[in-house]
Amino acid sequence: MDLTTNYLGLCLRSPLVPSASPLSEKMDNVRRMEQAGAAAVVFYSLFEEEVDAVAPECRVGPTTYLEHIAEGKSSVGIPIIASLNCSTLGGWLSYARRITEAGADALELNIYKIPTRNDVPGSIIENI
Ligand SMILES: Cc1cc2nc3c(=O)[nH]c(=O)nc-3n(C[C@H](O)[C@H](O)[C@H](O)COP(=O)(O)O)c2cc1C
Repeated sequence: MDLTTNYLGLCLRSPLVPSASPLSEKMDNVRRMEQAGAAAVVFYSLFEEEVDAVAPECRVGPTTYLEHIAEGKSSVGIPIIASLNCSTLGGWLSYARRITEAGADALELNIYKIPTRNDVPGSIIENI
């Protein structure tokens, strides 16, 4: 049966695409996804808030993410879709550009905000 699918301008052999999760942090898992029939894979997300985290234990360098994209491109034949969640306009633009340069075939914009501060009124959050 021909399950060929056109998605984001990519010609995929099927619509089976594992979504973003920590599973794609390990390249072995990405290879296993391809072997199991995945037509593309959405990588786990890069969160700008983690990149800029004040607490060192929460900080995640973007370099690791970009290297991971590049490693994915050389390890599997299926398209790699990166996933990005930013909190500033400059962050969206610069990380999107760097992810593209690292070789990602497409980029998922992971747009949501979890309000965590009790002292910020709802009206301000709605305006963000
Ligand atoms: C453990 C776990 C981690 C996830 N991590 C991410 C992530 O990093 N970025 C993202 O955009 N979605 C993430 N998701 C959301 C999934 O990609 C997916 O959109 C969600 O699970 C809904 O699909 P489902 O109904 O098939 O579970 C995660 C989901 C789970 C369960």
